[in-house]
Amino acid sequence: MKLNVNGTDAEVDDRFADSPLLWVLRDVLELRGTKYGCGIGQCAACTVLIDGRNTKSCQTSAGRAVGKAVTTVEGASGPVVDAVRDAWYRGNVVQCGYCQPGQTLAAAALLEADRSPDDAAVTRWMNGNLCRCGTYPRIKHAIGQAAETLAAGRAPGALTDVAELEMAPLTPEELADPVHPYVRVHQDGSVIAYSNTLEMGQGSHTALAMIVAEELDADFASVRVISAANGVGPEGDVYGTPAGGGFIQLSGKSSGTVGFWERYRLAAAQARARLAAAAAEAWGVPAAEVEIELGVVHHPSGKRAGFGELAARASQLPVPDGVQPKDPGQYTLLGREGRLRVESPGKILGTARYTIDVTLPGMLTAVVLHPPKFGATPAAVDDSAALAEPGVKAVIPIGEGIAVVGVTFDDAQRGLRALRVDWDERNAERRSSAELLAEHRRLAESGEQAVVARQDGDAAAALAGAAHVMDAVYELPYLPHAPMEPYNAACRMGDDGVIEVWAGTEGPTYARMSASAAAGISEDRVRIHVPFSGGSFGLHSTSGHDPVSEAVQVAQALEWKYPVKVQSLREEELKAGRYRAMAVHRVRAGADDQGRLTAFYQQIAAEPTSPNMPLAVDFLFKDGVDYMTTSGAVDGPYAMANFKLETTPMQTGVPIMVWRSVGNSHSEFARESAIDELATAVGRDAVDFRRDLLAGSPRTLRALELAADRAGWGTPLPEGRARGVACSSFLDSHSAQVTEISLDNRNRVHIEKITFALDCGIIVNPDLVRAQVEGGLIWALGAAAWGEAVLGDGGEIITQNFDRYQVMRMRSVPQIDVLLIESGEPPTGVGEVSVPTAAPALTSAIAAVTGIRIRQLPITKTIKVY
Ligand code: FES
Ligand code: FES
Repeated sequence: MKLNVNGTDAEVDDRFADSPLLWVLRDVLELRGTKYGCGIGQCAACTVLIDGRNTKSCQTSAGRAVGKAVTTVEGASGPVVDAVRDAWYRGNVVQCGYCQPGQTLAAAALLEADRSPDDAAVTRWMNGNLCRCGTYPRIKHAIGQAAETLAAGRAPGALTDVAELEMAPLTPEELADPVHPYVRVHQDGSVIAYSNTLEMGQGSHTALAMIVAEELDADFASVRVISAANGVGPEGDVYGTPAGGGFIQLSGKSSGTVGFWERYRLAAAQARARLAAAAAEAWGVPAAEVEIELGVVHHPSGKRAGFGELAARASQLPVPDGVQPKDPGQYTLLGREGRLRVESPGKILGTARYTIDVTLPGMLTAVVLHPPKFGATPAAVDDSAALAEPGVKAVIPIGEGIAVVGVTFDDAQRGLRALRVDWDERNAERRSSAELLAEHRRLAESGEQAVVARQDGDAAAALAGAAHVMDAVYELPYLPHAPMEPYNAACRMGDDGVIEVWAGTEGPTYARMSASAAAGISEDRVRIHVPFSGGSFGLHSTSGHDPVSEAVQVAQALEWKYPVKVQSLREEELKAGRYRAMAVHRVRAGADDQGRLTAFYQQIAAEPTSPNMPLAVDFLFKDGVDYMTTSGAVDGPYAMANFKLETTPMQTGVPIMVWRSVGNSHSEFARESAIDELATAVGRDAVDFRRDLLAGSPRTLRALELAADRAGWGTPLPEGRARGVACSSFLDSHSAQVTEISLDNRNRVHIEKITFALDCGIIVNPDLVRAQVEGGLIWALGAAAWGEAVLGDGGEIITQNFDRYQVMRMRSVPQIDVLLIESGEPPTGVGEVSVPTAAPALTSAIAAVTGIRIRQLPITKTIKVY
């Protein structure tokens, strides 16, 4: 058959006539800008234009596209597309970027049909396009900007991208150098910053480029960032994350900028000193007289040189003694508005490469069928029908399931659907979510098997003597991460016996461990490549039982004759688990007759997360207390003289993994809800009640005052509207949130407006901080409203795709007002900080307007959220 794609006729084998157009575009025509997110018409990541109409290519067979004009992100052009892309770029819309080729094509189709769509029209049109990073407010704004550009007749010009860089393996000399593993000045004058952090949407590459440009006095536009790994030398891993103890390279704990702060500022300052010393040596002048501005080295005598002219000489010089990074008062770049994301052009144009896009000569693609219940194993496999499918090369049992290997993804997928498997469920988790919840509740209420995580004063005695006591149980479900790019990995073995792995992993150290364990070779024979990741939110932090391990197992079974990519089906990713733990909290809190808090006693029943973080278990899980379960409860912002925290480490068959904001995602819901309930019970204002408790936390108090003031806390609202408030102190960032909601005449909750105040220390890039706050709120509001991974009767995993696992779409997004507090403190994390307060502020607002206190998430079990 003949397909017309991007204006060119392409001959495609007739055997693909019934295949989804998506896979023909990606795997046959090698147009990989069009993305896969769900395969069932729920996400629109696969959007292309067919005869100008935005169309989900996963729902259209290649045969039906014959005789029509197909336009993909690679071929889209013209004034409307250019206006859209320019607005996307200037509006810092992109985060992980995975959904954005689909978003921009849908937006272009809208503007072709309607040059001035109003807010409702934009929402209606774009509501089908999911974005797990929560870029919806910026998408809306960018569509408005593009419409204005078109109406004014301005020509924005076509966005261009530069090719992605690969990191070459470091030599031992480079590993030992204090500068070279982090910052290099090339002889063409460009500056390369080697990031120890995966770019998964959080903007860490842009923050790093700004930090390096600031300290080097380089032109920001000349700095390029690539993801580094393989920094393991005799002294340990040069990319080891300070927040992970320095020996694990991990992009967790919102630690990207925190981790860059000391290391990269110093490395860039040292590189600058070397350049100055090289100029001084070449020109025969004192180094102290050499100045550097915007990438130009100069001397009052008139001598000038670009970085490139001095790079070779500078790299031979020792780092001068006593180099110090700049004082914040000297900053000309950090903290300023206007710096756009460095990697967004490629993400907008569809040229950015994610793991799903990795292509190696002769590569085969595998999909893995996972058991329908956690812990089940294959008892009998009939693979005859699968192997009879055209393009299917092999069926291979691997640790967690059965891999079907095909020439293309669609071949493998067809093979997977033809597999017949009987599962042995004897060791499976056969309890339903409801049964597991009942067990969590029983243990939280009884305190059975509980261990004390923290104790101050005597909470039990203070409760016994309290004038008012509230006693409540808060229940939170399992939650999947469901990033837009399902978790994938590719690998091959070279002639030297070294295994190369491509994975958008948060933890290259863990990926190396995983590949080495699966292949049975030493870790120094594994080399990791880290492409962009289409989101992660904690999912890609694991080691073992992951696509890296699966890909290596498949390649090994095929005797390393082929490179192999394991590409996860959405259903299989959600069946593989790695969920946020289910958690039940019982809170008893007391107040005196003046309405002041006197006791707080919190008990948590949840499965520990830390044991899934190898190498770090010893200090994260100690004496039965899991830091990742208790974070947020053990270290909250409030002063409580009589405080007790107990935790019961549950054991279930459900695989648990860190999830954006880890334990704070549930423990702060319980604490903030209980605080609110107690304030209401004693007749006190919720902000005023918290104010009392924050005397020792001035930064959180400031955030509370600011958010409350800006949101008009205490001022009257129309009938059917209410506000809720919550505070958080998380990873040394301090925040407060006020959420305003309305109730419609069908008793549905509408989230109208969020005011969020944040003190995250020195702000590197204000707009990217705002973007992270917006994205975190949208992520968390969706989870609070609808999120739940459901195990049905017998333990079968029910929520396997976006039809059953509901996330936030554009129509539900509130107005978001982010207030950033100026600070001279070192920068702290921002990627997760807006998650913990989203649910409690929302449920408190619901309680205020309906009188119904929601103690069980998701909210929609009790009341509909629109
Ligand atoms: S709608 Fe096609 S991949 Fe999701
Ligand atoms: S930017 Fe939309 S899913 Fe990440």
